[in-house]
Amino acid sequence: MLNNLLKHSDSKIVCIDTFEGGIEHVHDAINMTHVREIFFSNVEKTGRMDSVRVLEERSDTGLLQLLQENHESFDFIYVDGSHYATDVLADLVLSFRMLKVGGLCICDDYLWEGQSDPRHSPKMAIDAFTSIFSEQVQFVPVINTQFAFKRIQ
Ligand SMILES: C[S@@+](CC[C@H](N)C(=O)[O-])C[C@H]1O[C@@H](n2cnc3c(N)ncnc32)[C@H](O)[C@@H]1O
Repeated sequence: MLNNLLKHSDSKIVCIDTFEGGIEHVHDAINMTHVREIFFSNVEKTGRMDSVRVLEERSDTGLLQLLQENHESFDFIYVDGSHYATDVLADLVLSFRMLKVGGLCICDDYLWEGQSDPRHSPKMAIDAFTSIFSEQVQFVPVINTQFAFKRIQ
């Protein structure tokens, strides 16, 4: 993203991650300390550390912090944190308030089938959000298992 999306030298990105993993990481026994190290090492390699702000906390807490700071709005939001529908719904509702009209939101794992309980997957939350906000969002077709929409008002 830093190399391909943040082309302008003034562009900024905010990353919110607990680096504690989620249900998918427990299942796959992924070492999150190592994932965190790789993340920071990859950022460093781009030489764009100054363009990146990392909030190492739950996404709802981080998003509320940005809202409280009256953070300027975003052109692009990528939702790919907790897979629990309750968390994804909170991520969408809170982050949408900072998405520019004309801005793009991509939600990962829309068609993720890692859990049999649909409340443990993002789809239910993305469907609920886009139904409730249907007048403000426009579906953008994507070719993989993600879901994308543009804010139109
Ligand atoms: C599927 S990974 C995706 C990470 C990153 N978006 C990527 O593509 O490499 C999900 C990430 O969400 C983080 N996470 C899980 N629950 C979270 C929560 N409630 N708030 C913030 N981050 C969370 C995990 O630590 C993990 O790094």
